[in-house]
Amino acid sequence: MRVTIFGTGYVGLVTGTCLAEVGNDVVCVDVDANKIARLERGEVPIYEPGLEPLVRANHASGHLKFTTDAAAAIEHGQIVFIAVGTPPDEDGSADLSHVLTVARTIGRTLSRYTVVVNKSTVPVGTADAVRAAISAELSARSSEVGFDVVSNPEFLKEGDAVQDCLRPDRIVVGAESAHAVDLLKALYAPFNRNHERIVLMDVRSAELTKYAANAMLATKISFMNEIANIAEQVGADVEQVRRGIGSDPRIGYHFIYPGAGYGGSCFPKDVKALEYAARAHAYEPRLLSAVEAVNAAQKRRLFALIQRHFGESLAGRTIALWGLAFKPNTDDMREAPSRTLLEQLWAAGATVRAYDPEAAAETRRLYGARKDLILCDQQYAALEGADALVVVTEWKAFRSPDFERLHALLKERVIFDGRNIFEPKVVEAAGLAYYGIGRGRSVRAAGGVAT
Ligand code: UDX
Repeated sequence: MRVTIFGTGYVGLVTGTCLAEVGNDVVCVDVDANKIARLERGEVPIYEPGLEPLVRANHASGHLKFTTDAAAAIEHGQIVFIAVGTPPDEDGSADLSHVLTVARTIGRTLSRYTVVVNKSTVPVGTADAVRAAISAELSARSSEVGFDVVSNPEFLKEGDAVQDCLRPDRIVVGAESAHAVDLLKALYAPFNRNHERIVLMDVRSAELTKYAANAMLATKISFMNEIANIAEQVGADVEQVRRGIGSDPRIGYHFIYPGAGYGGSCFPKDVKALEYAARAHAYEPRLLSAVEAVNAAQKRRLFALIQRHFGESLAGRTIALWGLAFKPNTDDMREAPSRTLLEQLWAAGATVRAYDPEAAAETRRLYGARKDLILCDQQYAALEGADALVVVTEWKAFRSPDFERLHALLKERVIFDGRNIFEPKVVEAAGLAYYGIGRGRSVRAAGGVAT
């Protein structure tokens, strides 16, 4: 099939590449000429395991093309995906200007029946707005070309995006037109082989499904972070509690890892956007507000533990950070808990030595050159001259460190484990003090009460 994709961010580029991989002729469009030029050279501007070789192979075979020429791209596609960004506005609502700009461009160009698919995460009602924008442009040029607008939200995770896209656990399609449904069924047939993964529904329900999925996952995380904070107060170990509840299949083991709070491009934005939408429809979303408030507090948790150990001022202290990306296997720093921590550490006078396998360049881009930030290119180099180690992101390479080496390098011999990746007993046996999230130890170790 001939497919056009607007937007070469995570969702657009991964979707386009996977659709090309199964034999479609895909054209990806972006307004960023520099990005398109890089993609044409086979350079993938994001770090996503497995993506670059697929982009190169499909570009070389001619199945995947890149362009800034929107009109030619619209002319190409039987199906046109909108996968451009929907950044949060200041009030938390999703900014639809990019989506609607694409819709108007489609309306100005369309010359034959086309299915327009919203893949961006968009508030309920956006498909209607896209339909109206296209119709307005069509009537402005007295065109009677037919089109359908479908909602087909994307559920891929950064770091696993290619696998998620090639082997989706469900394909949500919200459509009112039987013809559009048939076309999307045919498009997704290669991903839908062993059992039916397409969940058909109306457009508004599909739009809400995406928000509901992310809000549910964010709720699980905030819930668990709350339990962790209670565990700490009452002297229990949340890791044992986690295993105890996860074994109940109704609860499950996924997304109940307590930690330094959730970050990334989706959860924070989508929880806020859903809250905003609820209020706009005169419903007060009490649970969603709490999910967000718990997460904001959790992002400050590591700093509270560090300050409880070292005292209020960290002037003259050097803190080593392992992990900057909002989660492993990405270089994405959007809403990363490390950013809250970095800013708090600097405000208290500390110098930070940090190591991340992928996110150093992004950190440099965000914060520039500053004396109190030393980005190291090796994980143990971050510990040189440091008082303490803080694990912020659970990259695999951090899981089994050489504790003797940590003991020798750290001046104050203390570890703050923001992702509970170490066994406290193992760390303590190596002669290091251990603080985790909700492990009932930080309170005892500090002889005080958690905040
Ligand atoms: C998420 C959704 O999982 C995906 O379906 C959607 O399409 C986009 O948003 P992503 O943002 O890539 O994907 O990351 P995810 O792996 O879901 O993690 C989000 C955040 O939650 C990370 O900061 C992670 O560290 C945190 N998290 C996750 C926890 O703190 N505990 C957990 O148990 C799981």
